[in-house]
Amino acid sequence: LVSDMKGVKAGKLRVAVITTAKYFVPRLLGLFCQRYPGIDVSLKVTNRERILQRMADNQDDIYVLGTPPENMDIQIEPFLENPLVVLAASSHPLAKEKNISPQRLAEEPFLMREPGSGIRLSTEQFFAERGLQLKVRMELGSNEAIKQAVASGLGIAVLSAHTLALDRNSDELAYLDVQGFPIRRNWYWAYPKDKQLSVVAQAFLKFLHEESKQIGEKYLQGLPGFPAQKDDKK
Ligand code: PGA
Repeated sequence: LVSDMKGVKAGKLRVAVITTAKYFVPRLLGLFCQRYPGIDVSLKVTNRERILQRMADNQDDIYVLGTPPENMDIQIEPFLENPLVVLAASSHPLAKEKNISPQRLAEEPFLMREPGSGIRLSTEQFFAERGLQLKVRMELGSNEAIKQAVASGLGIAVLSAHTLALDRNSDELAYLDVQGFPIRRNWYWAYPKDKQLSVVAQAFLKFLHEESKQIGEKYLQGLPGFPAQKDDKK
């Protein structure tokens, strides 16, 4: 197989990923393209529901998602952690508190991703399991927009630690110390079981496995909630 991979000279690779992976997968693709310069790569970034739809329609070669679907016949495997953290403006009164209960958190106005988002799904599940319903102040279609709205004091939000990858030194945002957080999750790569992967797609999966651990370790260090120790918080 390895020698086959050396023959990967040209071809097309179509990758579709959930919103949080847009910080990580392009780095991986950059390295992949350096190794295989002849390959033409396209990357689609969208939410979980649309990823699942694209998978059902067989639009791409490899998919990356955060919450595995229940009734789809797919090949799926976790490759990197994707913890969810609670964010508030650093001036928010809860930013100084420790060990905040989910009940207390549920009293705050929430900024939520659109329906179809995997982050929204996990967040709603977390509170529903505790018999709590969130007060949604605003629905926003992007993690970046949510970060800006949180910073401006509109409300609090649950986001993937990865969405803060470029904002580590931001002093406008604070991670809240909430019981049950960070929610531990993973990124998974996936493709339909009946799909015959191209040689290029096989090479990419192999590459993803080899490289993501290595890039990931370095990249995950310093993300809030990783390693998931509460004393890590500033
Ligand atoms: P989403 O998925 O973009 O559908 O919210 C992100 C994630 O689950 O990490």
